[in-house]
Amino acid sequence: MPTHLITGAGSGIGAAVARRLLERGDELVLLARDAGRAKELAALHPGARTLVGDLGNPDRLSWAFGQQPMPERLDSLLHVAGVVELGRIGELTPKSWHFQLNANLIAPAELTRLLLPQLRGNQGPQLRVNQGHVVFVNSGAGLAANAEWGAYAASKHGLKALADSLRHEEHAGGVRVTSVYPGRTASPMQAKVHQQEGKEYDPSRWMDPESVATTILLALDLPRDAEINDLTVRPGR
Ligand SMILES: NC(=O)c1ccc[n+]([C@@H]2O[C@H](COP(=O)([O-])OP(=O)(O)OC[C@H]3O[C@@H](n4cnc5c(N)ncnc54)[C@H](OP(=O)(O)O)[C@@H]3O)[C@@H](O)[C@H]2O)c1
Repeated sequence: MPTHLITGAGSGIGAAVARRLLERGDELVLLARDAGRAKELAALHPGARTLVGDLGNPDRLSWAFGQQPMPERLDSLLHVAGVVELGRIGELTPKSWHFQLNANLIAPAELTRLLLPQLRGNQGPQLRVNQGHVVFVNSGAGLAANAEWGAYAASKHGLKALADSLRHEEHAGGVRVTSVYPGRTASPMQAKVHQQEGKEYDPSRWMDPESVATTILLALDLPRDAEINDLTVRPGR
């Protein structure tokens, strides 16, 4: 059975992806920020294992993983977790920059570094080495930066660079790398964005997290002779 490690499975897009993978019988390891949240994630997604690591503190991930049993092999690493804080460059504090860069860029880089051995090691049924897949949930803000989105957009532009470099480095060895760029999606993050924008939040105007999950699964399930590098998915209405 394929095994996936997924971040952000407690909410929004990540929760939708986790549900879909569990429904079809895949094995899941869910990253939780702390032990309390790990219990909640285990209850939300029965059958999934959990791993504790705070993406807000990437310097400590290596230590945290040293204290827990780690998966021996992974078919995919799905970076879905993310945070956002809007603000003009003239107002964004270093604290806000660090908060967004840590969770959205440095933690995915560190998580990838720590788990690459498990992703590289998979032997497929055929002679061809069947290795793992790293999926980064990016954002339209990873391709274009608007006013007040500076720190978040910088973190997501960085995430694009991370994915592109990783693909160049690992492609020959068979590790696939995909970036998915969703537009606005109805989730707790989008509710927060509307609050920060001072706008009324109507989730029916935005994409359902299930639609983004479908996009992620499309990349994941593509036959091994092909790799989707980048996928942009926007609200259809
Ligand atoms: N919603 C949109 O409109 C939209 C558009 C484009 C791109 N995206 C991207 O899509 C991804 C998912 O977003 P979403 O809308 O599903 O957001 P969401 O509902 O707010 O969920 C974010 C997830 O990230 C996890 N997370 C945040 N900080 C963490 C930390 N320090 N350690 C561990 N986990 C942490 C949260 O865990 P807890 O549940 O424990 O808080 C939560 O499960 C993000 O990368 C986001 O940037 C979203």
